[in-house]
Amino acid sequence: MKVVNSWNDFDPLKHCIVGRADNCCIAPSEPASKVKVPLDSPMRGMTGPRPLDTVEKANAQLDNLVKVLEGRGVKVDRPDALQWNQAVVTPHFMTGSMFGCMPPRDVLLTIGRDIICTSMSFRSRFFEHYAYSRVLRKYFEQDPEFRWIYSPRPELGDASFDLHYFDGDVTEETLLERTAKKYFVSTEHEILFDAADVLRLGKDLFVQHGSTTNLKAMEWLRRMYPDMRVHAVNFPGDPYPIHIDATFVPLRPGLIINNPERPLPKEQRKIFEANDWEIVEAAKSAHTEPPPLCYSSVWLSMNLLVLDHKTVIVEESEVYQQEQLDKLGFEVIPVPFRDAYPFGGGLHCATADVYREGTCQDYFPNQVDDPTLITYENRAW
Ligand code: GLY
Repeated sequence: MKVVNSWNDFDPLKHCIVGRADNCCIAPSEPASKVKVPLDSPMRGMTGPRPLDTVEKANAQLDNLVKVLEGRGVKVDRPDALQWNQAVVTPHFMTGSMFGCMPPRDVLLTIGRDIICTSMSFRSRFFEHYAYSRVLRKYFEQDPEFRWIYSPRPELGDASFDLHYFDGDVTEETLLERTAKKYFVSTEHEILFDAADVLRLGKDLFVQHGSTTNLKAMEWLRRMYPDMRVHAVNFPGDPYPIHIDATFVPLRPGLIINNPERPLPKEQRKIFEANDWEIVEAAKSAHTEPPPLCYSSVWLSMNLLVLDHKTVIVEESEVYQQEQLDKLGFEVIPVPFRDAYPFGGGLHCATADVYREGTCQDYFPNQVDDPTLITYENRAW
């Protein structure tokens, strides 16, 4: 039986994993997570299990999302929450607690028949993949073609990070300059990537180069998938460049919404322009602030879940994003989800693809001189 198959984020969704908020912690500060928590956030320096009432509210919204998906004929699996409030000790580091399993999108990357447990850069997330072992074992037993892959387990020792990244007076302006220069807290010591930095468009993977994903990871993907093209993209307007799915979000073949504060630079657009892809500015969020104790920005408004080329799930209060999608010809399904945001993101983050109909298409047959293309010869590490 075929269980795992997904080549993009817009073909008809038939099976996915939806996260859980149980036992979720605000993990202790560490080199990579300092960049995730905005400089002015009250979360800086906080750690420990999240309050039970917030866990219950988040779980109610996650359970409701499952109902909506099942009502649309999508099969849903759930992870097994571990006791996340346990220390992690490895030969290379120690940290006081783990994180959670609300955002499966960060740790599981589905490419065709493969699910890759990725090489994440947060020490607190080192063992997160275990929450998915039961469902991945099941897919392995049921689907003779499914390949369960672990990308190289990272060390996450001191060499993996620029430990002086936050020395001195670091402001949001400093961080913006660094994003533009592609200078991030994660080094090129080893392969590091989060699945949520990888935008899958059939034969092409567009990967955000930022705090959580480095160039060596893109070279690893290129070698794993020699028939595919891997592109490094970056978004200079983002002071906290972590995960592509509140920045550059495909809606259907030929159409992408781009965060207006984080436009894809002109020279990186060539490959889209040469293949008649339209990149439109996403509508603004209906909110000026994220909910309390949230790692993400208000741009979770565009972190939506596409069910097929005509149907999309959007957070219920994000009226401007809903209006825009309506005008673009989509049926919009609003669901409440802001109580789940603090646990690791929006509707796209909270899900991981298992099966979408469709095959590996070439959406970019017209090749141009493309500065984003990853090659061994042009490596910068
Ligand atoms: N990178 C996620 C956000 O914009 O908050």
